[in-house]
Amino acid sequence: MTLIPGITIRSATEADAAGVRLLTETSFGTRSDEAWLERSARLFDPLDSVVAVEGNRVVGHVRSREMILTVPGERTVPACGIAGVGVAPTHRRRGILRAMYTEQHRRTEAQGLPLTIFTASEGGIYGRFGYGPAVRQNAVTIDRRFAEFLPTTPDPGGVELVMLADVTDRVCEIYDRWRRLTPGAQVRPEASWGNLFADPERFRGGGSDLFTLLHPDGYALYRYYREDREMVVDVVEMRTVTTDAHAALWRTLCGLDLVARVKAELSDNDPLPYLLGNPRLVRTTGRYDGLWLRLMDVPAALTARGYRTDLDVVLAVTDPFRAAGGTFALTVRNGHAECAPTERDADIELGIDVLGSMYLGAYPARAFAAANRLQAKDSGKLRALEEAFGTDRDAVLGWFF
Ligand SMILES: CC(C)(COP(=O)(O)OP(=O)(O)OC[C@H]1O[C@@H](n2cnc3c(N)ncnc32)[C@H](O)[C@@H]1OP(=O)(O)O)[C@@H](O)C(=O)NCCC(=O)NCCS
Repeated sequence: MTLIPGITIRSATEADAAGVRLLTETSFGTRSDEAWLERSARLFDPLDSVVAVEGNRVVGHVRSREMILTVPGERTVPACGIAGVGVAPTHRRRGILRAMYTEQHRRTEAQGLPLTIFTASEGGIYGRFGYGPAVRQNAVTIDRRFAEFLPTTPDPGGVELVMLADVTDRVCEIYDRWRRLTPGAQVRPEASWGNLFADPERFRGGGSDLFTLLHPDGYALYRYYREDREMVVDVVEMRTVTTDAHAALWRTLCGLDLVARVKAELSDNDPLPYLLGNPRLVRTTGRYDGLWLRLMDVPAALTARGYRTDLDVVLAVTDPFRAAGGTFALTVRNGHAECAPTERDADIELGIDVLGSMYLGAYPARAFAAANRLQAKDSGKLRALEEAFGTDRDAVLGWFF
């Protein structure tokens, strides 16, 4: 396919491998070794990639794979997960990303996948393609020297100090129980575990290799750093199935005596501040999106998730990129939805990017209404929409891709 003079958009071939590698390394500023490339090829089949080529030179790349995503109501939906998006700095802003995305989304539509997801490098690019940020993450730092737990905080114990290599099966099993409950978490393929467990030195940011705390219903993987001559711990991944596992692991992390601060990523309603006598000790140092989401098929996506309350609403959805928009009647009874195109007047008008942001329950409808990106016929419909789309468990990205 040639949309831009001199540039062809097509599937990657084996002959493109070296060009894709150099382009990806240049785009993201990291070199990859053979073991990493081998695992990446198992994670994302290189022959499923879309490339932009000028002659035989690769100047653009998008890779993708089908993922199983947990959505509200402890349900799962197949989604296209996109990654490795890059355009050569010599060829930027000529429409190559748009051309590759047009082809990639045509393929996703043909596969019948109701959602597309990815992690975005920048916030200003993807709204025009119908994506909205759908998971929120908070970077926090806790000065653990002053952390005292309230008398109400459970002290269930059960945490073991272990070597990661000895407990990989248990870590995978706990992750899998956690991801079934958690909107935004994906089934994790073996090659993704391989990347985590390999723990290459170049991704440690000057920290130690991974240390592991294991509880029957949770785990924490973390590194030690030196910061201004003080010892700091960075929690790389913590997954807890139960509140007891959460309290037990945090008690252990806050019990690392020689450590000044513990850094971690928390979702909005993580209970950690409420376990402590001084909730301010959990200091938010950054707040950002963890996943972007686009509905490829509005009725299929909206009927795939569960809802917190009953709902009767007509949504007019605009799609600036594909033809997935339209007016849809959404009816929810006992958590189960029906959704179909309708001729009825809309109660709510919104962009498909806004619906993407609301889909996992992390972003409330009222904020978009206040920003004039969602128009509601009346405040009752707006409140009902927000309540129904809300979730009991915060959305969290399962594994970065
Ligand atoms: C981001 C990147 C892929 C854009 O590629 P590109 O070929 O220059 O993009 P296009 O020319 O097709 O632009 C597509 C649209 O996005 C907009 N856009 C592109 N980059 C943008 C940016 N950084 N910020 C805001 N808008 C941007 C363009 O203005 C254009 O808008 P329009 O089609 O509505 O007029 C490229 O700059 C890149 O590889 N960056 C480094 C790696 C990276 O960040 N990858 C993304 C990982 S998620």
